[in-house]
Amino acid sequence: MPGFEIFGKEEKKEVLDVLETGVLFRYGFDSTRNGHWKTKSFEKELCDLTGAGFSHLCSSGTAALCVAMVSCGIGAGDEVIVPPFTFVATFEAVLNIGAIPVFAEIDDTLCLDPEKLEDFITAKTKAVLLVHMCGSMAKIDKIKAVCDRNNIILIEDACQSVGGSFHRTALGRFGKAGCYSFDAVKTVTCGEGGGIITDDKKIYENMHMYADHGHDHVGNDRGLENHPFLGMNYRISELNAAVGLAQLRKLPEMIKIQKKNKKMFEDAMKEIDEVGFRNIPDKDGDTATFLSIFLPDEKRARDIAGKLSKAGVTGCPYWYENKWHYIKEWDHLKDLSALSKLPIQKYENHPNYRNIDLPQSDNIMKKTISMQIMLNWTEIEIAERIDKMLGVFK
Ligand SMILES: Cc1ncc(COP(=O)(O)O)c(C=O)c1O
Repeated sequence: MPGFEIFGKEEKKEVLDVLETGVLFRYGFDSTRNGHWKTKSFEKELCDLTGAGFSHLCSSGTAALCVAMVSCGIGAGDEVIVPPFTFVATFEAVLNIGAIPVFAEIDDTLCLDPEKLEDFITAKTKAVLLVHMCGSMAKIDKIKAVCDRNNIILIEDACQSVGGSFHRTALGRFGKAGCYSFDAVKTVTCGEGGGIITDDKKIYENMHMYADHGHDHVGNDRGLENHPFLGMNYRISELNAAVGLAQLRKLPEMIKIQKKNKKMFEDAMKEIDEVGFRNIPDKDGDTATFLSIFLPDEKRARDIAGKLSKAGVTGCPYWYENKWHYIKEWDHLKDLSALSKLPIQKYENHPNYRNIDLPQSDNIMKKTISMQIMLNWTEIEIAERIDKMLGVFK
């Protein structure tokens, strides 16, 4: 990752198709679009890839999360369980639909811990929004079982894990809806874009209407369509979809390259006694965008992270200190009273996020370092990088 590393004539061709017609809108203009329906084609191919019954493409992964939750009937006052290790968008999306994010512990998969989930369920819990972090998966079967047992909606934030699977079922297909991001740095990029999959026709209908001002998309005259409910504009443009369409077709090859590259680093790291590895419940389903390792403790992890950076080994985040991915540093979000200065929401019923105490997650994140796996590394570059990394552990 990211997919822009391998932009080629395929992306250019899809974009030119759109530019030649001048139709940038995903709906209508049937007579002038010369048969080009890039968004619709992407949606069909996303269904083919994942096996989902329905898919809807929208403007971002964040939009996908909002649209998915609203379409599943989640809204004001509902509690939604989320992990503390994610991208801030997961938290923002829950707040944005008026619901209440409740943080639960993660385990050594770097995703929600099914064993701890029930400790965070209350009478108000409407959904679990789990995140398949860094290209790999949560213990999704166990999390689904907890949700089913407690009659809670499961939604998957697979924004970082398109193309991943668990025992051959695509990540995103275990819950009521699964969301992907196709933003500028994702494995499949549209520049900006997001996708949602579901097997539930009613949820799908809610999605495509809610993401387009509530239009029902029946008939050929947009001005005469009905609007069964209020919506927003979360549409994607044909230009973005065109880029993504070419990229989606390259996804299997991208994952193959990532797996090959990741294995070389993993094999080298296995020789180092103090290094442990992230638990990946189904290695075959890993998209291999990151290699995540555990050091014995926080002191050693900080030491190694610093040395990697000094040695010029780029793309190795120490998430515990990262302002976007772990709750510890989300000061601007934890202070909801600051957000309330924008008078769009009231936050009286929300927990005080400054007091959140997740010792298990802290202990895991303190000792975790990840390494991004790139697509266009040559074997020589990989060998040089491994040399530098091994040097750091001496
Ligand atoms: C876990 C997760 N959820 C949601 C998003 C939001 O996606 P987007 O950037 O397309 O809005 C991201 C983006 O990085 C993400 O990593």
